[in-house]
Amino acid sequence: MTFQATASFAAELDQQDPLRLFRDRFFIPPVNGKPSIYMCGNSLGLQPKSAKTLIETELNDWAGLGVEGHVHGKNPWLYYHHFTQEALSKLLGARKKEVVAMGSLTNNLHLLLISFYRPTTKCYKVLIEHRPFPSDQYAVDSQVRMHGFTPEQAVIEMKPRSGEVNLRTDDILATIKEHADELAVVIMGGVHFYTGELLDMQAITAAAHEAGATCGFDLAHAIGNVPMQLHDWSVDFACWCSYKYLNSGPGGVAGIFVHEKHHTNDAIIRLEGWWGHDEANRFKMENKFVSMHTAESWQLSNAPVFPMAIHKAALDIVEEAGGIQAMRKKSEVLTSYFEFLLLKAKATSGADFTILTPSAIEQRGCQLSLSFASNGKAIHERLTEQGVIADWREPGVIRMAPVPLYNSFTDVYRLVSLMFNNPFEN
Ligand SMILES: Cc1ncc(COP(=O)(O)O)c(C=O)c1O
Repeated sequence: MTFQATASFAAELDQQDPLRLFRDRFFIPPVNGKPSIYMCGNSLGLQPKSAKTLIETELNDWAGLGVEGHVHGKNPWLYYHHFTQEALSKLLGARKKEVVAMGSLTNNLHLLLISFYRPTTKCYKVLIEHRPFPSDQYAVDSQVRMHGFTPEQAVIEMKPRSGEVNLRTDDILATIKEHADELAVVIMGGVHFYTGELLDMQAITAAAHEAGATCGFDLAHAIGNVPMQLHDWSVDFACWCSYKYLNSGPGGVAGIFVHEKHHTNDAIIRLEGWWGHDEANRFKMENKFVSMHTAESWQLSNAPVFPMAIHKAALDIVEEAGGIQAMRKKSEVLTSYFEFLLLKAKATSGADFTILTPSAIEQRGCQLSLSFASNGKAIHERLTEQGVIADWREPGVIRMAPVPLYNSFTDVYRLVSLMFNNPFEN
């Protein structure tokens, strides 16, 4: 598509957008009495207007039924985690039994590493990307320590080449091969939180398996952002949070994927709790754990119904919008238009920034990360005053994520116009 840097062209793209009406399903936070230009879905997605209704349903059932809500509620609480499995499985390219909404992201990462990082004296190394989200680094470092190693001994950081910011797939594959004899697990962010780079998860998984390692991904920035085929790619495990592109609220319920090839392995080491026990016999209260033989076996506790109600409200919207394929279709054009406007503004205004995120569509999701040589902080502050909500990360990066469910082409046009003081006026 040939883009134009005009307000009327952006409005035309909005007119043609099959998802345009979904914007109205979310609360857009106002700034100075006007709807903001919200670019922070990579950090916290917006509140679906339907969330309140779904929560009220559960509050009413709790008020009216008390404990009976577990079985006789409109959405019986005992089974609440089942109500999101289908939508999650489609987002991830997984079988329903391979996914479950549960817990929180870092907790889940630990639970999965307990099962999938089983080091031996010979094979004990973990490959992780350089500068992962700090919580992932802490989780991995503490896991290797738990097994008696030091992070210096056991953690390999996959660094970009000197002078580059993004990882090259070939380099990742070569590193996996190089360490094949000692590598126990590869765990990486599917989409990098800082740069927005989307990794080739299929190729990385294949290489990890070739090296005899297990392979997992932190999908915090990937789920609801890019389509995936975790089952077909044979990924061993994955975890995510739901408060970014799944719009399920701050600290909302997270989730895990465990490939079905591991489900019936009763030798697998796992931290266990009653919600992972065979559902049909859970309330017999027997003392010997019998696995669900699905990803649900990793559940520890009964489902947190209120955050799950928000999660369900948000996932219902995704389904209604046509799922991740429809969202990605718009997202590719929306982010490409954003990139086009930024580069055009740079050419006309001489602004001193670089886009860290890869330019190739297949190597990124919706986010673009702009690195400013000098005045980034001032630009971010000015944008904030002008009603833009975007995210500043030290030392000099503004991350912005036009989200297909609630951002418009006009949003990105107005954003770039504000950022560089109307660079398209002539
Ligand atoms: C990539 C990534 N990993 C881990 C986390 C930590 O998440 P939580 O606090 O939900 O455990 C985040 C939070 O934003 C994240 O972006």
